[in-house]
Amino acid sequence: MIELKTKIPGPKSLALMERRKKAVARGPFHATPIFAEKALGAWIIDVDGNKLLDFSSGIGVVNVGHSPKEVVEASKKQLDKFIHTSFNVVAYENYITVCEKLNSAMPGAFQKKSFLANSGAEAVENAIKIARATTGKQAIVCFQHAYHGRTYMAMSLTAKAKPYKHGFAPFNCEVYRAPFPYPYRWPTTSQPEKVAEECFQEFKTLVSSEIGTSQVAAVIIEPVLGEGGFIPAPKKFLSLLREFCSENKIVLIFDEVQCGFGRTGTLFACEQLEVYPDLLVSAKGIAAGLPLSAVTGKAEIMDGPPEGGIGGTYGGNPVACAAALAVIEQWEKGELYKNAKAMERILTETTQSWLKKFPIVGDARGLGPMRAIELVKDRETKEPNPEAVKIIIKAAYEKGLILMSAGTFSNVIRFLPPLCITENDLTQGLEIVQEVISKA
Ligand SMILES: Cc1ncc(COP(=O)(O)O)c(C=O)c1O
Repeated sequence: MIELKTKIPGPKSLALMERRKKAVARGPFHATPIFAEKALGAWIIDVDGNKLLDFSSGIGVVNVGHSPKEVVEASKKQLDKFIHTSFNVVAYENYITVCEKLNSAMPGAFQKKSFLANSGAEAVENAIKIARATTGKQAIVCFQHAYHGRTYMAMSLTAKAKPYKHGFAPFNCEVYRAPFPYPYRWPTTSQPEKVAEECFQEFKTLVSSEIGTSQVAAVIIEPVLGEGGFIPAPKKFLSLLREFCSENKIVLIFDEVQCGFGRTGTLFACEQLEVYPDLLVSAKGIAAGLPLSAVTGKAEIMDGPPEGGIGGTYGGNPVACAAALAVIEQWEKGELYKNAKAMERILTETTQSWLKKFPIVGDARGLGPMRAIELVKDRETKEPNPEAVKIIIKAAYEKGLILMSAGTFSNVIRFLPPLCITENDLTQGLEIVQEVISKA
């Protein structure tokens, strides 16, 4: 149960916000004005003792819940042994075990290898380096509405100007952007198969007329857009891309940083979409909040860069690897998949009912329990309604529910509860969303 002891934000959070403003650069955004004291499962206790329900999972990270005891214990055990040696200096077993686990989890009937890094952006950077080193080619094709991170290559691949790119030019060269099959806003039709075909034609035209097919090293796509607004790419589009990349010796990279590690109800979204990439990028949910990311893929591609060509001081930190192994074990037990299925049903039914009930809800979509609603001012014109999203998110946290927005037009509310949440807690959170939407 949500328990609020003060107004949100409470006095201690307000005081910390003042200190934050003075001491911390203004760059990092904050979706809520509260400060955490403790977190467990789907709950965050703030410094004023308020108990809030978390529908953000720390931006889709604590998919197995906040601080599950198995992950905490495994991390503590590793901390007692050693914290860091650098895998590049004195290696350790749990890095190898994480790679073995990822290799067997990635779908596709080919030999696989993995490489570990710290963040999603760093793994994206490395996937691009691996693709270029292996193919000897340079051009990278990415998509509209994409988000791949904030480092220079990752930012160059990211689509949204404000706040991610504005003022940070120049960007990396040899990056080309194709349209993403976004059925709700596709100009001629919203029928996913047709959108897929038309969008693929545009992709092919871009590649052949502006780049030259033989010059493309890699195509990178989120099978389900994360920051872009929880839009699943139609299966048909991904399978056309797969075919095209195989025919033209182009490395197909799936960025599953946000949609991976169980978020869509399978360990990787591509399992449900039945299209397998050459390289798969994971991060976020992989280690329940400890910094870890991975590139997993075809062994011959992964072995493209020479020894010393990829790496880093911290990549695949042993404590993060211990946490990741405990996370993977949680998934292997199977209960989380069952819970994700139940969540999918509740989230889908509820968001679809809002589509009928509230004219400002223009679209309700997602894959598995990775669901979102897109808010508009007018259903005919589909004019985005970012103002309503702001009002809803503020009204929700004031009632004790943490929500996040998304979308190129900042008009999407995404639902990212921990995948261990109970039906009751999920329903309680959704009732709050319904109440605040009806008032917006
Ligand atoms: C699809 C996707 N790729 C990459 C990233 C970047 O990950 P990180 O913030 O860990 O660098 C994100 C982060 O939200 C993401 O959603």
